[in-house]
Amino acid sequence: MTADRIPLAGVIGHPIAHSRSPRLHGYWLKKHLVHGHYIPMDVAHEDLADVLRTMPKLGFVGVNVTIPHKETVLALADQVTDRASLIGAANTLTFQGGKIYADNTDGHGFIENIREKAPDWNAGDGPAAVLGAGGAARAVITALLQAGAPEVRLTNRTRSRSDALRAEFGSKIAVFDWVQAGNALEDAKTVVNATSLGMVGKSTLRVPLDALGPGMVVNDLVYTPLDTEFLEHARAAGATAIDGLGMLLHQAAPGFERWFGVKPEIDDTLRNIVLGK
Ligand code: ATR
Repeated sequence: MTADRIPLAGVIGHPIAHSRSPRLHGYWLKKHLVHGHYIPMDVAHEDLADVLRTMPKLGFVGVNVTIPHKETVLALADQVTDRASLIGAANTLTFQGGKIYADNTDGHGFIENIREKAPDWNAGDGPAAVLGAGGAARAVITALLQAGAPEVRLTNRTRSRSDALRAEFGSKIAVFDWVQAGNALEDAKTVVNATSLGMVGKSTLRVPLDALGPGMVVNDLVYTPLDTEFLEHARAAGATAIDGLGMLLHQAAPGFERWFGVKPEIDDTLRNIVLGK
């Protein structure tokens, strides 16, 4: 790539029209006066390998990857970070010296969001409870264990998915039946909703929340709506309630910094832009 070439980045998914990433990175490019572009790209599964190999020739320095390609790209990358391998998916690719580097920044986004809203939070202070066992939950579990959580209690509607995670992540994972989700929350220091329940268009999260109380950090990965019933309940119980928007913003920052060489700022204008306000 010649030195004066305009750096390009973007997000690859299928479909991609609803992605908020172009808004997010577009704001940062403007704010930090970076001469570059970030675009949404709808790529079908069968074209993914060709597209990724061609992108650097067009001036792309990297891309975000979203559903349904997050798992597939691991096999197409030349190098995969440990955290991306553990999660089993990548969301951030960097093209450098003819190679594709794959990383997953979702766990980083999750931890940074909590640290921003609850600066005194320490994963090591006590057990964590995670509702859900899908892709988002995998990133959260990996991050919690890496941050020093002594125990991660998992509860999911489909128990076999939690059992599979226990087999993979080991004895710090304790599996609870979905009907006993309420028990998983008892004396937990960190509680995370990593299901899609509570999201606009989905059912409400209906698990017993009596165990929530002061001293707990409660995080909903859902950010549409920003204030879910789950978070309202947590706040009313005296817990620190944290919405999921910050995770989306924080997971985007490492890619932007890697590709464009500027550490981007997360501010209220960005939050409003991403929310479409
Ligand atoms: P993501 O990558 O966003 O985590 P996913 O892999 O589809 O998406 O996982 C969605 C999560 O929400 C799962 O934990 C799912 O539970 P199942 O494993 O039993 O499917 C959970 N979920 C979705 N709809 C649900 C519902 N109506 N009741 C309970 N859990 C639900």
